[in-house]
Amino acid sequence: MPVILGIESSCDDTSAAICVDGVMLSNVIANQTIHAAYGGVVPELASRVHQQNIIPAVQQALVNAKVSKNDIDAVAFTRGPGLLGSLLVGVSFAKAFALAQNLPLIEVNHMQAHVLAHFIDEPKPRFPFLCLTVSGGHTQIVLVKSYFDMEIVGQTTDDAAGEAMDKTSKILGLPYPGGPLIDKHARLGNPDAFKFPEPNIPDLNFSFSGLKTSILYFIRDNVAADPDFLQNRMNDICASVEKRIVTILLNKLKKAALLYGIKDVALAGGVSANTGLRQGLTDMGQQMGWNCFIPAFQYCTDNAAMIAIAGYHKYLNNDFVGQNVAPLARMPF
Ligand code: KG4
Ligand code: ZN
Repeated sequence: MPVILGIESSCDDTSAAICVDGVMLSNVIANQTIHAAYGGVVPELASRVHQQNIIPAVQQALVNAKVSKNDIDAVAFTRGPGLLGSLLVGVSFAKAFALAQNLPLIEVNHMQAHVLAHFIDEPKPRFPFLCLTVSGGHTQIVLVKSYFDMEIVGQTTDDAAGEAMDKTSKILGLPYPGGPLIDKHARLGNPDAFKFPEPNIPDLNFSFSGLKTSILYFIRDNVAADPDFLQNRMNDICASVEKRIVTILLNKLKKAALLYGIKDVALAGGVSANTGLRQGLTDMGQQMGWNCFIPAFQYCTDNAAMIAIAGYHKYLNNDFVGQNVAPLARMPF
């Protein structure tokens, strides 16, 4: 019955989770609101707030799980990829805690953990499956062959899907992070009101920077003609932009599923919280005869439960690291 403490601090969420024999007993997430004033995550501030939040988050995770720190068998932590200063806080905490409690350490790749979030609750996908991982920093189609044998078969050549959401919202004058606000406005708008271009990118790769530029010019020209354009058409703009981003993502996912002959298809990462994408995948899944796996909202955006479940499976494989481990801002799969 291994008890795993999971620690996540790769960007602007400080999170701690307790997993007992593969069952998640707690998942505490401390969000950082300070970045909204700056229109994006300020790495130095993120790191400082992680330092304030990490111990209370771990204490709360223990209390919620009704577990004592002496019951823990291993500490799993995000080694990368992410912001170096943010990662350092989680990695340093994990190392210090493991040293004090004489516990083994388990390193976890944040992007693999997003995929493994599907193994927290039922229904769990069967290997091999395809996972579309869409976050603020990454857009990947991953062929998942086993818990730790994953291959990126398509990825963005420039901006990530979440970045496209956040940059669009900035153009529209909405606060950071804009993804959830685009979602909110899009629910009230007409997705066919405006047509934005679909990039012509070969293979299973993505590009979102052209879309961002076309939105920028579209808004500039329309606001020049009508100063109230943004105010009057906000819902329609958000619905149309969201529709374009969702079609770009799902068209490539469909191509990958056909290419690899796979019918188990999953979503992961912060953008998988998006209502339009969740609905779009469900609709496409029905059309294609796929088994679709869409994570619960609390496991879409950054969380330590996904780190703890990845840590649990590594624990079963005796896959540990030493005290000399250091964070990696760019961590290969
Ligand atoms: O996975 P995540 O929490 O952090 C990273 O590892 O990047 O993803 C954050 C991204 C942000 O770009 C945010 O705007 C986007 O996920 N996001 C959404 C929604 N909720 C979060 N995008 C669209 N609709 C949402 N409901
Ligand atoms: Zn993430």
